[in-house]
Amino acid sequence: MNSAKVKIKIVDFAVYLRKLYFMNLFKNTIESVSEKFLRGVRQAMSGRGADYTFRRVNSQMSSGIAETSVYVHIPFCLSLCPYCPYNRIPYEKDASNRYMKALKKEIESYSERFGSKKISSVYFGGGTPLLAGKNIYEIVKTLKERFDITGDFCIEANPNDITDESIALLKESGFSSISIGAQSFDDNLLKSIGRKYTAKEAEKAIDKVMKAGFDSVNIDILFALPQETKSQLKYDIEKALSLGTSQITTYPLFTFPYSEISNFKRIKRVKSPSVMKRRNMYFQIYDSLENGGYERCSVWSFKKGKEAKRYSSVTRERYIGFGASSGSYYETHFDLNTFSVEEYIRSVGKKGNAVALRVNFTKKMSKLYDFYWRLYDTYFPMKRNLAYSSYSINTDKDFTFYMKVLLYLRWAEREKDGFSLTREGSLWVHFLQNLMSLRAISIVWGEAKKNPRPDKIEF
Ligand SMILES: C[S@@+](CC[C@H](N)C(=O)[O-])C[C@H]1O[C@@H](n2cnc3c(N)ncnc32)[C@H](O)[C@@H]1O
Ligand code: SF4
Repeated sequence: MNSAKVKIKIVDFAVYLRKLYFMNLFKNTIESVSEKFLRGVRQAMSGRGADYTFRRVNSQMSSGIAETSVYVHIPFCLSLCPYCPYNRIPYEKDASNRYMKALKKEIESYSERFGSKKISSVYFGGGTPLLAGKNIYEIVKTLKERFDITGDFCIEANPNDITDESIALLKESGFSSISIGAQSFDDNLLKSIGRKYTAKEAEKAIDKVMKAGFDSVNIDILFALPQETKSQLKYDIEKALSLGTSQITTYPLFTFPYSEISNFKRIKRVKSPSVMKRRNMYFQIYDSLENGGYERCSVWSFKKGKEAKRYSSVTRERYIGFGASSGSYYETHFDLNTFSVEEYIRSVGKKGNAVALRVNFTKKMSKLYDFYWRLYDTYFPMKRNLAYSSYSINTDKDFTFYMKVLLYLRWAEREKDGFSLTREGSLWVHFLQNLMSLRAISIVWGEAKKNPRPDKIEF
């Protein structure tokens, strides 16, 4: 290359760098303005005294609840999917055994400290809970011995966890609800998101679970995957419908800034579908499932007619979380266990619990929190006595302004005893959810994954 060409290349490169700098500057300014705006809106909604900051704590505080639900987190996976934002680490037999022992101890210490509670449901999530094998049975046994369990046992599973042995274990332990993370029935899409099974294997697993006679079988399907076409989505929905499970849940792929898929997209310049495309995909799913005899039971989930039993992972009023990264919600505060598996084992071994962070809730914050989950359910009863709570919620009175806005925008409709979201409303709830809560989760989980015991996290 002669020197003139070299000069041109250097100038080109300098122009490119300058462009990059201004693009970043512009992006950063927009991000910081929208961040301030969102925080301002939330503060106005939450009123005086609301402080969205997790602070470091070292001991539990139960606030005397008599009845609640339980979440158990098992963080091990055979391979780590690049899009997954949850607290998960590669499976190792020794670490898994030590972890399960700590889990048992955490449950025992909790019951010794705060007494037996009435438990309205138990949910095992992950990670991949079934990798713990027979230890699952032990944990269920401990929960049954220590608490008064009145509700169902539910569990999440990967298609390749499903064998005759694992089904027998679930049945023996008393699980009545199961969710299979199929994600897609297209081999190319499965491969592109790093799943280690084929569509045929996923179908076989679902078939096996259906034949085993659980009260409720949910399947998770991801959509808005990078470069997913309309016909691929159509195929996934038709296949899901043909399997006839009691519930189908479809999640748009959320990309958290700290997940590997964000890096992947940045490097390869792979794009997720635009907002308009996501809107069309959501309506495509919504209409196909309703026409296929399913009815909406949350923003993302559809159950097979009125009779089907709903499978729900998130909309509990109160819960105690056991395991690394589990949260416990007590109305007056929200506690978060350390995310680090080794710190969890060490801390439970030493003092029986691994709580690392706490955010205090004012009454208004906890009412808003409840309102948020009713938005997620897509239905708000007019009057609600919150179980085990010191107050009740009157949607008309407590949320007059928000309900007026929702009705005005035709995002909600008034019914005899409450309000329900319209199709358009549930779509926008999904976008708002993206904006507000996933942003907050991203900040908290992103930091808690880096540091086992952060001093504070403002979100
Ligand atoms: C955390 S996984 C646990 C169950 C099991 N390990 C699995 O992968 O199927 C539970 C569900 O979360 C959903 N999920 C995981 N990462 C997601 C993401 N980035 N965006 C949307 N949904 C996601 C998937 O649909 C998955 O079935
Ligand atoms: S999506 Fe499931 S299998 Fe994949 S890493 Fe997350 S928890 Fe593990």
